[in-house]
Amino acid sequence: MLKTLEYTDGIVRMIDQTKLPVETVYVDCKTSGEVADAIKTMVVRGAPAIGVAAAMGVSLGAQSINTDDPKQFAEELEQHCSVLAASRPTAVNLFWAIERMKKVAESCMNGSIEKAKETLKEESIRIWKEDIEINKAMGKHGQELVPDNSTILTHCNAGALATAGYGTALGVIRAAVEAGKKVRVFADETRPFLQGARLTAWELKEDDIPVRLITDNMAGYFMRTGEVDLIVVGADRIAGNGDVANKIGTYSVAVLAKEHGIPFYVAAPTSTLDLSLDNGDQIPIEERSAEEVTHIGGKRFAPEGIEVAHPAFDITPNALVHAIITEKGVVRPPFKENLRKAKAQ
Ligand code: MRU
Repeated sequence: MLKTLEYTDGIVRMIDQTKLPVETVYVDCKTSGEVADAIKTMVVRGAPAIGVAAAMGVSLGAQSINTDDPKQFAEELEQHCSVLAASRPTAVNLFWAIERMKKVAESCMNGSIEKAKETLKEESIRIWKEDIEINKAMGKHGQELVPDNSTILTHCNAGALATAGYGTALGVIRAAVEAGKKVRVFADETRPFLQGARLTAWELKEDDIPVRLITDNMAGYFMRTGEVDLIVVGADRIAGNGDVANKIGTYSVAVLAKEHGIPFYVAAPTSTLDLSLDNGDQIPIEERSAEEVTHIGGKRFAPEGIEVAHPAFDITPNALVHAIITEKGVVRPPFKENLRKAKAQ
C-alpha cells in the first residue's frame, strides 16, 4: 500500500505531493517546524493526513525537549503545538490531532519525561494506524451507496495520499471495487493546485480503477449528458449542522448535482466533525497565494501584477448533501441531531 507518511528513527518521512506524479521523492522532517512547513507548502495535504502529520510533529517536538522538569516540558511542548497549529486553518483534523496529543502529554505528567516522550510517539503512530482502519470502515459503509456499473465524480484528492492510507472518498470507491462492483470515475482536475489531475488520477490509475480526468468546468456537461450517477467527495471540516468545507469548487459540483438530481455524498471521519460550530459560515477559509493561481508548474500564464483571489476551500450547505459517510455509518439528515449521535457512538 502507498505510504503517504511514516515515522521511524526520529524522522517523519512524507511523499512529496507537490512533485507527484512526475517525480516520486520523499521529504524527511526531523523537527516540528519542518513538519509545519511541509503542511504549509502542501508536501503533505488532505485533512486526515494533515492531522496524522501534526501528531507526528508534536512527537518530534517532544523528543527535542531537553528537561527533567514537567512544567518546563509542558511549556515547550505548547510552543511546538502552536507552530503546528499555525500551519493551515481549515482542516479541523489538524487541531483535533494536536489536542489529542496534548491530552496524552497531560496524562503522562506524573511519570518520567522519557516515558512521556515514548508515549507521545506511540500515540502519533496509533493515530496513523487508526486512520487507515477508519478509512476501511468508511469504505465498507459507503460502498453500499454505490450502485453496480456506475460512474462516480469526485473533486480534489480524498485518497490514500490525503490520509494515512486507503482514502475517504477514494476509500469508498476502492471498497466498491473490492465488493466486485464495476465503477468508473470522473476526476475533476481541481484548479488551482490540481490535486485531481496530479494525485487522484494517478492513484486510481495505479490501482487500475477506470478513471477519466476532466477539467472542472466539464462536470456540468457530463451531469447533463447523464454520465454521472453519484458524487463522492471528502471534507476538511463539517459544522454541527452538516455544512461541509471542502476544496474550492466542491460547492459548484453540489449545486450542479442538485440541478441534475444526482446524489451528493461526503465521506469523512468523525475527527472532521466540528460540532462546536453551528454552521459553515464559522469555518475559517484559507486564502492561499496568488502564485498558485497565476502559475502552473512554476510557469506564469496570467498577466504580471494581476489581482487574484484564492480561497482554497468553499462551503457546501447541508441542504445539498444527501449523506455523510463516516466510520460509524452513513449519516443522513437531520444532520444536527444525527451527526451528534455519530460522534458520541
Ligand atoms: O488543500 P488540500 O489539498 O489539503 O485540500 C484537500 C481537500 O479538500 C480534501 O478533499 C479533504 O481534505 C478531504 S481528504 C480525505
